[in-house]
Amino acid sequence: MQQKIIILDFGSQTTQLIGRRLRELDTFCEILPYNKFPENDPSVIGVILSGSPYSVYDPTAFKPDLSVIRGRYPLLGICYGAQYMAQTYGGKVEPAGLREYGRANLSRFDHDNPLFKGISDNSQVWMSHGDTITALPSDFKCIASTAKVEYAAYQIDGEKTWGVQFHPEAFHSTEGLQLLKNFAVDICGSRQDWSPASFVETTVAELKQQLGDDRVVLGLSGGVDSSVAAVLLNRAIGDRLTCIFVNHGLLRKNEFENVMKDYECLGLNVVGVDASPLFMGRLAGVTDPEQKRKIIGKGFIEVFDREAEKITDAKWLAQGTIYPDRIESLNITGKVIKSHHNVGGLPEKMKLKLCEPLKWLFKDEVRRVGRQLGMPEHLITRHPFPGPGLGVRILGDITPEKVAILQEADDIFISGLRNWKGEDGKSLYDSVWQAGVILLPVQSVGVMGDERTYEQAVALRAVVSTDAMSADWAHLPYDFLAQVSNDIINHVKGINRVCYDISSKPPATIEWE
Ligand code: XMP
Repeated sequence: MQQKIIILDFGSQTTQLIGRRLRELDTFCEILPYNKFPENDPSVIGVILSGSPYSVYDPTAFKPDLSVIRGRYPLLGICYGAQYMAQTYGGKVEPAGLREYGRANLSRFDHDNPLFKGISDNSQVWMSHGDTITALPSDFKCIASTAKVEYAAYQIDGEKTWGVQFHPEAFHSTEGLQLLKNFAVDICGSRQDWSPASFVETTVAELKQQLGDDRVVLGLSGGVDSSVAAVLLNRAIGDRLTCIFVNHGLLRKNEFENVMKDYECLGLNVVGVDASPLFMGRLAGVTDPEQKRKIIGKGFIEVFDREAEKITDAKWLAQGTIYPDRIESLNITGKVIKSHHNVGGLPEKMKLKLCEPLKWLFKDEVRRVGRQLGMPEHLITRHPFPGPGLGVRILGDITPEKVAILQEADDIFISGLRNWKGEDGKSLYDSVWQAGVILLPVQSVGVMGDERTYEQAVALRAVVSTDAMSADWAHLPYDFLAQVSNDIINHVKGINRVCYDISSKPPATIEWE
């Protein structure tokens, strides 16, 4: 049985990070809303309570019943989680005066406590809280302090229950991973058997059992998630998997042909459908971004559906949905938001059962699984690319001419990023999360030779990010930008000006539409 640690989510921005850290420790975990603890699940080996944007004395704060957890499982409260336990069992939590935010050091801690095994004196931790525990219940003992926070960590006497007011999951808690390891491995008894190899082995076996002799269809996008899902399914059921790759005419230059070749090399049974004329026809004259998205999304489903119907005995629709697509995260209004992006367009009438073999994985784990499956590196490290493709990077209406111009400019930028090595020896492509060119609905005056030009402008966009929820513009070298600008203006007819987008998200977004 796959052991797991449950992380109860109280709405903190770092909840997912706790999950990722545990997975780095090859320990499987599930993130669940604070009030959805799975009672009587024999695979649970421990529980973590996350932080929260709420104060414990806020009337609308999340306050689940911990009696089904405390004393039955090893338990670690982080920030709000620690404050909530302290308050619930008779301690006191008060506003900290000044918000305690930033780096701090554990000036004093109990070296013999199992939670602190291997932690060094003055270890740096990350604080981010507006409240602080000012009195502990009598059976709680303080096991760590910082200069400003007396009760930085506690343990309940005689129990495997701990609370820490700092965030061990944050990168700035330099030995936070060691602390989480102490909890997960030494205290909860994790066997640390969650690895790409074991994932592939167990998933292939499960898929064989789940699917039997059934046929499965899967929509490929060229992206890493759907490609890894396809290769995994191919391992399990071979040719009974049919993949459908729809070209909506808004892919990158030569992408359809290149990706088809990759898929064939991987031994996948792929049907490539060039539906560009259908999309171009429907998009003609449409300028509103959401309208464009709807047309592309609907057209995609229609084409996919038509192809899938040809596989008459298909019983399953497989998708590359990954864990962050499914986590029910809480927002501060207390509403549970379920964002399940990939199934948004699932056509009801297809009446297919859903198969999502990557649904427990984070993005970096999908990549590790792809490597384990022997997939080529360029498929695995591919940047994310929006479903509507260049359709949301051509601002305003879309024409085949604009698509062709943008494909050329984008190709120069992306090949440039691949070929330019940064100081760390990595290509710029591998150092950024995502990049692309946006065709602006703006013409400007230029001069080429003796000729006046009046042509279009493009913006280059490159961002660094870990999850696309927030992103910073990539600080690309000036020399590189100069070269790309020259190459685009000299080689792409119709463009005479190149700008670089220096907005971060928030308040901007990664895409322009
Ligand atoms: P934004 O622009 O919201 O983008 O910061 C965040 C991430 O989502 C991608 N994106 C999309 N992906 N359909 C998709 O499949 C869409 O309509 C869409 N819009 C944005 C974007 O490329 C980035 O990775």
